[in-house]
Amino acid sequence: MSGGPNPPASTQPPASKSLKDGGTVAPVREILWGTSAGVRKYESADELPPEMADLIMKLMVVQSDTEFASIQQHRPWLDSAPTLEDRWVQARIVADEARHALQGCRILRDFGEEGQKRIDGLLRTQEGQHKLDAFNIPFDSWADVGAFTCLVDRVGVYQLRAFQECSYGPLARAMPLMLSEEQLHLNFGYNILRRMVREGERYYGSREEAQRAVNKWFPRALDMFGHSNSRTSRMAIDLGVKRWTNEEARARYLAEVRPLLEGIGLSMPDPMTDRRIL
Ligand SMILES: [Fe+2]
Ligand SMILES: [Fe+2]
Repeated sequence: MSGGPNPPASTQPPASKSLKDGGTVAPVREILWGTSAGVRKYESADELPPEMADLIMKLMVVQSDTEFASIQQHRPWLDSAPTLEDRWVQARIVADEARHALQGCRILRDFGEEGQKRIDGLLRTQEGQHKLDAFNIPFDSWADVGAFTCLVDRVGVYQLRAFQECSYGPLARAMPLMLSEEQLHLNFGYNILRRMVREGERYYGSREEAQRAVNKWFPRALDMFGHSNSRTSRMAIDLGVKRWTNEEARARYLAEVRPLLEGIGLSMPDPMTDRRIL
């Protein structure tokens, strides 16, 4: 043992480190918005008021249903994506979506028998029976994979960001990892479209194919935000569960997507064309 003196105990609080350098972020304990802002967050299913319990279950069913559905949609491309790297990312996406489904179902499981009933329903759901139209359409081409991950997964990110720091602790804590995984999916989709435009046949497909796929998925992506002036979305904000109304989230999405598509030489379709949910 070395016999040197111990360093003096520091009287200064340790400097906070960035996440990258191994620092942590102190969890937020209070509800940040809505009618109960400032009150302690809900931390378990049995302390939720009935209307909030019902809302969380509904939201988790819709969320998890999209995760199970995208596994079904991606599956045929696991061994037919054009490049080796594309196949690896396909496999990674399927694993991520399965983990997201598991995470949503774990939240449902905390609601006991009722939650389990809903999980059983999710596990029984076949292709074509999902709640949102975007998840009932098969990927007929590689451009579909690109446009779906670039446009539809991006809506998913808006939905997840709306739950960030929400009033139900277990849901809020599930968000950071899911969001970082979704970021990979978005970048992957964006890169597929970009390479189709820039490299054409040298990669796979063409600009025209990429634009056709954008036109196909864009209206279904916009529909996913739900009805403007939805009563449920207003209630979710009041309860501190969601951060934005459907219309606010859709407007933010549109502002992000237009320059993104135009930047790679594609055009954003008219947001009102071929819409089913306004
Ligand atoms: Fe996901
Ligand atoms: Fe995803």
